[in-house]
Amino acid sequence: MASPDKVLNIGVIGTGIFATGTHLPNLQKIPQQFKVVACSNRTKSKAETFATKANISSDKIYESYDDLINDKDVDVIDALLPVENNAMIVEKAIKAGKAIAIEKPIANNLENAKKLVQLAQNTSVPVLVLENWLYHTATEVIKPKLKEIGTIIGFNFKSTGPFYAENKYLKTSWRAKPNHIGGYLSDGGVHQLAYLVELLGEAETISAHTTQVREQSGTDDVWFSTLKMKSGAIGTFTYGSAFGAVDKSRQFVIYGDKGSVVFDFSPANPKPFVKCSYGVTGENIKTETIEIEEKDSTNGIVSEFKNFHEATVSNDKSLLKCKPTIAFHHLAIVDAALKSSANGGSSVKVESI
Ligand SMILES: NC(=O)c1ccc[n+]([C@@H]2O[C@H](COP(=O)([O-])OP(=O)(O)OC[C@H]3O[C@@H](n4cnc5c(N)ncnc54)[C@H](OP(=O)(O)O)[C@@H]3O)[C@@H](O)[C@H]2O)c1
Repeated sequence: MASPDKVLNIGVIGTGIFATGTHLPNLQKIPQQFKVVACSNRTKSKAETFATKANISSDKIYESYDDLINDKDVDVIDALLPVENNAMIVEKAIKAGKAIAIEKPIANNLENAKKLVQLAQNTSVPVLVLENWLYHTATEVIKPKLKEIGTIIGFNFKSTGPFYAENKYLKTSWRAKPNHIGGYLSDGGVHQLAYLVELLGEAETISAHTTQVREQSGTDDVWFSTLKMKSGAIGTFTYGSAFGAVDKSRQFVIYGDKGSVVFDFSPANPKPFVKCSYGVTGENIKTETIEIEEKDSTNGIVSEFKNFHEATVSNDKSLLKCKPTIAFHHLAIVDAALKSSANGGSSVKVESI
């Protein structure tokens, strides 16, 4: 086991929008945990831009990710490739004995997701899926409140918003012609599903309809559905940012037999808030509203990297919060929703691993 104070040398593969604009500045905020020492990108000029910002020496800019993975000065890998590459890059990192963090969704389809889960299960090398919403403070605040509203009967989860033609992600060719199931519905959908599953447990079946509103999305971009959870709770899940003008709205209402919890995390709110109502009937309702102070102002990015560091220096993959099995379930819900929609909205069982 390495010292908990060890600074890990991290190599970044895929120096695109999110690596340069989000991972790098956040890794630079935690120099006690990570030093960005190498990078690799298919288009070298982008790796060079990243290297300048990261202060990486020119001999550590790689065109081939194999060379980066095998660099003896690189301790761990951070990969931000189109997700169809995740299983392949994880296999290479494990072969080199190096812990790896990959961006969400876990893979482009369930077959590759299964392969990745198996690779991670058969090694002691930590493999973290970077689903940053799992690191939000909100779920910690809501979990104890759910215990106070009795048996959870149902829920409505809604995350909807207008289409933005200037969205920077529309310019990425792999999103315009998606080779990953669900396109934007899995890209952003797994974030929403992380909240749903973290708070209410795994889903059992889903009946969904999806549709494509915008040509730029490459595939279906709006999703309406009903779910049955393994707990027995029933509810709705609605997701899409392809509508015409409408306020961006994110609300998760959870109904119990002794009360309810409303979590509103619409971006227009000054802060996300939770409104809890307690009472077996409507006659005697006690309410409590809690504004959520996010402990991590980086949208969970710093927290997930600290988690990656902790698991790696302890050589204990059980410490990872978003294990591949958890990320698998999120993608499996997307997969089942798409199969349901293709079959006229029939009830489809969510695949388990
Ligand atoms: N957690 C979040 O909130 C969040 C937000 C945004 C993105 N992400 C994730 O971050 C990852 C990157 O997304 P992004 O928006 O940064 O996309 P991006 O700008 O397109 O970056 C992807 C990078 O991968 C490289 N690449 C593309 N296809 C490749 C291939 N076949 N072989 C080798 N390299 C290839 C690209 O190289 P070129 O320069 O040659 O094209 C590019 O630098 C994705 O997994 C995405 O889901 C997560």
